[in-house]
Amino acid sequence: MTKFVIQGGTPLRGVVSASGAKNAILPMLAASVMASSPCVFHSAPHLSDVSTMVKILERMGAKVERGGLNGSTLYVDPTSLNSHVVDELLMRQVRSSIFLMGPLLGRMKKAQVSYPGGCDIGQRPIDLHIKGLKALGAHFVEEHGHILAERTKWQGADIHLDIPSVGATENIMMGACLADGVTIIRNAAKEPEIVDLQSFLNAMGAKIRGAGTDVIRIEGVKSLHGAEYTVMPDRIEVGTLMIAAVMTRGDVLIENAVVEHVQAAIAKLREVGALITVNGEGVRVRGVERPRPTDVKTLPYPGFPTDMQPQMMALLSIADGTSVITETIFDSRFKQAEELSRMGARIRNEGRTAIIKGVPKLSGALVEATDLRSGASLVIAGLAAEGQTVVGGIRNVDRGYEKFEVKLRSLGADVVRVASEQTG
Ligand code: UD1
Repeated sequence: MTKFVIQGGTPLRGVVSASGAKNAILPMLAASVMASSPCVFHSAPHLSDVSTMVKILERMGAKVERGGLNGSTLYVDPTSLNSHVVDELLMRQVRSSIFLMGPLLGRMKKAQVSYPGGCDIGQRPIDLHIKGLKALGAHFVEEHGHILAERTKWQGADIHLDIPSVGATENIMMGACLADGVTIIRNAAKEPEIVDLQSFLNAMGAKIRGAGTDVIRIEGVKSLHGAEYTVMPDRIEVGTLMIAAVMTRGDVLIENAVVEHVQAAIAKLREVGALITVNGEGVRVRGVERPRPTDVKTLPYPGFPTDMQPQMMALLSIADGTSVITETIFDSRFKQAEELSRMGARIRNEGRTAIIKGVPKLSGALVEATDLRSGASLVIAGLAAEGQTVVGGIRNVDRGYEKFEVKLRSLGADVVRVASEQTG
């Protein structure tokens, strides 16, 4: 059990670089099982979710190695894959393991999975994944918590998603690559990670177009080969660092950011008074005064991302007035509110709405990260707070932020990782 011990109050200053995106590489690793030759991923972040996904692939017979500069390259050789069974215990640790359903059905004609784990942020059903793969020809049987999927025929289909689910769009898109004929996904999710997945799959020999719009067209091919690919920068990490810079009234240049991907965050941060400039090197963010209040509603891309909502709540908790956050994507994503209240924040939750009355300052406290993004929000709250904050549950943060405390320290933050016994 590790914790972060943070001495708050130092403005973040300096230059930092975004890592490869967790939500892009996870489906790509799943897709790699369809390749007839090895795949190489550059900018592969060191995250526990990525390690878990790698272990899952290894259990199924794939060979995976890390190498390159700072170990940022992953080599995946799926040619020795000999199992269609996704390890149950590992599957409970990472939700993205569900992405293996489509690719395994494509390559091995069957897949055995269990219900996925990941962040506890309310109901996260997989009905749309199953509906889409059924439309391509899969049959599903559920036994003792395992889901067994099999197919003989694998035929392109016209699929309309009830909700633009990111995961369902990706799973169906991957599954459809090896189906006969054309698949159309309508009301598809438009997140940048889906565009990145399309580029990777096309580099493997797939024929996909339309990712980034709400209609994606996949023309099935007979086989896919390995590909070498650089994973897109993590836009949620970029957004988190931007919010941290504003909250500490710092001055941070974030390199390797795709500015287009963080426009919703830029707009909101400008509303609260941050100075944001964009040039060829990246995004420069300055927090100059106490943030002004604003209202935030989470929406599918290009709306304000739900994965940045907890961090925004931390920021608005020190705004000069009252803000309202409406969470429309997940039904239980205000877990950070209680922890922020321990630090002096005044937040009232009413269903999917949170009303935040800004206070001049937060004060350090013992808090617990219960999921990935709420963990990030507590860390940045601790950076801005007066005194010492100890954030427990750091394994949740390690799922999605590469060397978070190292990056924050490089910007001047006083944050250390300690084993819990050391904090007493
Ligand atoms: C992905 C991201 C996650 C992000 C989320 C929303 C990855 C690995 N994770 O998660 O970080 O918070 O998008 O941007 O990329 N739904 C159903 N049935 C389904 C699938 C989803 O009802 O079969 C609902 C969910 O309960 C949720 C909504 O659709 O209310 C959106 O979920 P979805 O877009 O699928 O999120 P994930 O792919 O799980």
